[in-house]
Amino acid sequence: MTIIAPADAAAIGEAAAILRDGGLVAFPTETVYGLGADATQAWAVARIYDAKDRPSFNPLIAHVADIDAARREAALPESALSLAAAFWPGPLTIVAPLAPGGSICDLARAGLPSVAVRVPAHPVAQALIAALGRPIAAPSANRSGHVSPVTAAHVAQDLAGKVDMILDGGRTPAGLESTIVSFCEASPLQLRPGAVAREAIEKILGEKLSAPARSEVVAPGMTPSHYAPAARLRLEAHELEEGEAALDFGGRLAARAKSGTLVLDLSPSGDLVEAAANLFAHLREFDARHIANVAVAHVPERGLGEAINDRLRRASAPRNTASLRD
Ligand code: TXA
Ligand code: MG
Repeated sequence: MTIIAPADAAAIGEAAAILRDGGLVAFPTETVYGLGADATQAWAVARIYDAKDRPSFNPLIAHVADIDAARREAALPESALSLAAAFWPGPLTIVAPLAPGGSICDLARAGLPSVAVRVPAHPVAQALIAALGRPIAAPSANRSGHVSPVTAAHVAQDLAGKVDMILDGGRTPAGLESTIVSFCEASPLQLRPGAVAREAIEKILGEKLSAPARSEVVAPGMTPSHYAPAARLRLEAHELEEGEAALDFGGRLAARAKSGTLVLDLSPSGDLVEAAANLFAHLREFDARHIANVAVAHVPERGLGEAINDRLRRASAPRNTASLRD
């Protein structure tokens, strides 16, 4: 049975007790909802993979209280620490070699000699980590291959009956997952674009972020069709074809839509932060309305546009290649 509770102090205390007992709790972060387990208990972590139908070799992000807690798990080089100081708490995930004596179980790291850590900014996530007193392993709280959830209702749609408790903290503000930067190679790699813009990270680092080599599966969740709604998306549309709904940006397509056409605008004013926050909710809305075909307006590639376009390309990719979606 799944308890869905407003995320007040009593519910957070109950949620921490569930995690301590090896249970699963979905909770809001500033990016998307996470499906959490105690990161130190392998069998609890195994339940995450089971609930999501996710391949078990896909490593998870460990959510920790602060920089000190992150350093107990990951050997963070100076440059990683400067990013941590600039962006934590917040939507940045750092991948680094394991620290000696780290507590995160092998399964949460998919056996890798590295670990992904992040200090979330959302007060509910922070309170839950504090109440548990240990890192919380949490992927996005969706079934494998579905878009990431930004409301408790989305989590319930995907995971009711599979998660012990859902802490309802309202809609998540960023609506886009964290940016992932790896410090496991000679120079920092951006493994996934996300809610912190590449430019902001490069400014702190004083160098460009590299992209992982295409053949390398450094972030196994980043397969081409990872973010897949049921609707077929046609990107970079300048007009609407017969029978299509529209995912608009800045009102570009609305101007050309016939009356009666469903048009959801990521940001009528053309604001990329607002667009990021609306992205997954709008994709879910098309599915909820059983829309088959969606024309997607051009979204500029600057700032958060890089991450938005990345998710849109994945959402529009053919489905049958996705063996590793998370
Ligand atoms: O915003 C977020 O990051 C959300 C919230 C809940 O924190 N979490 C999230 O987790 O998006 P998930 O599991 O859906 O994506 C985590 C990504 C995956 O692509 C995974 O492969 C990668 O992080 N990852 C985790 N540990 C890694 C490691 N040691 N090396 C390389 N990639 C890693
Ligand atoms: Mg995910």
